[in-house]
Amino acid sequence: NEIKLFAPGTIANLSCGFDILGLCLDNVGDEMIIRKSNQKGIRITKIVGADLPFETEKNVAGVAALAMLETIETGFGFEIEIYKNIKAGSGIGSSAASSAGAVFGINELLGRPFTNKELVQFAMQGEKLASGSAHADNVAPALLGGFTLVRSYEPLDIIKIKSPDEMFATVIHPQIELRTSDARSILKQNISLKSAIVQWGNVGGLIAGLYTNDYELIGRSLHDEIVEPLRSILIPAFDLVKKSAIENGALGVGISGSGPSIFALSKGKETAEKVAKVMCEVYDGINLPYEIHVSKIN
Ligand code: HSE
Repeated sequence: NEIKLFAPGTIANLSCGFDILGLCLDNVGDEMIIRKSNQKGIRITKIVGADLPFETEKNVAGVAALAMLETIETGFGFEIEIYKNIKAGSGIGSSAASSAGAVFGINELLGRPFTNKELVQFAMQGEKLASGSAHADNVAPALLGGFTLVRSYEPLDIIKIKSPDEMFATVIHPQIELRTSDARSILKQNISLKSAIVQWGNVGGLIAGLYTNDYELIGRSLHDEIVEPLRSILIPAFDLVKKSAIENGALGVGISGSGPSIFALSKGKETAEKVAKVMCEVYDGINLPYEIHVSKIN
């Protein structure tokens, strides 16, 4: 009647895949406890580690859970406790972790009426509340693990992508907050055919590289012509962090989600840790506090 779960952080976009690509960090995340209650509906009963609304309709976990319960008849309700580690506005999928965690936990307590892929449509409603846009590139990897692709939004078509064995992600979070809604409002609504060609070439290259364990191809494909140039100016020392990481062996570097976190992908743990060290040195040099994580991608 109760489940305790880990709700993982995620990196969305992966440079060239704005709103479609993402990966799961399985050592960075929140904890949640969800239990059945005789009272129907959803109640958020405890939030630790963040100042977030308890009102169900204003809480991303609450909204995602309500979207799910609208489609299924239950004679009871659920209470949700949220223990946040991922900071809001960090770029590593804080709202996605809560949204995905809520629907995953409830699905387990209901005896799994939905597949994890089917849960994405409900978790997206939490993202819509958080940022104004129902993107799935964080909730999909949070629910499925590893790398994921949103092949289409209408109809929703989520594909789990194979991950090479030695793939590691380094993520550094400079301690400033960047709201996804603000980071989306600065984007242009139209792009040139020329940029689109470069971008979809890289998306194809990245997917091909992941399937064939071609780390060099993955590295060549981790570029973003369209979003990074506009958003990187909001992130302290972005160019220097990127340059240092690449010079020290990272395959590629980009903005994690809508920032301000910066991610690097590397082949092997040793390289990922070296990359972490040089990223930290950049922020140490300007006295900017940060959090750093190195995760193996499964
Ligand atoms: N794809 C979304 C964006 C992710 O970049 O706005 C937000 O975390």
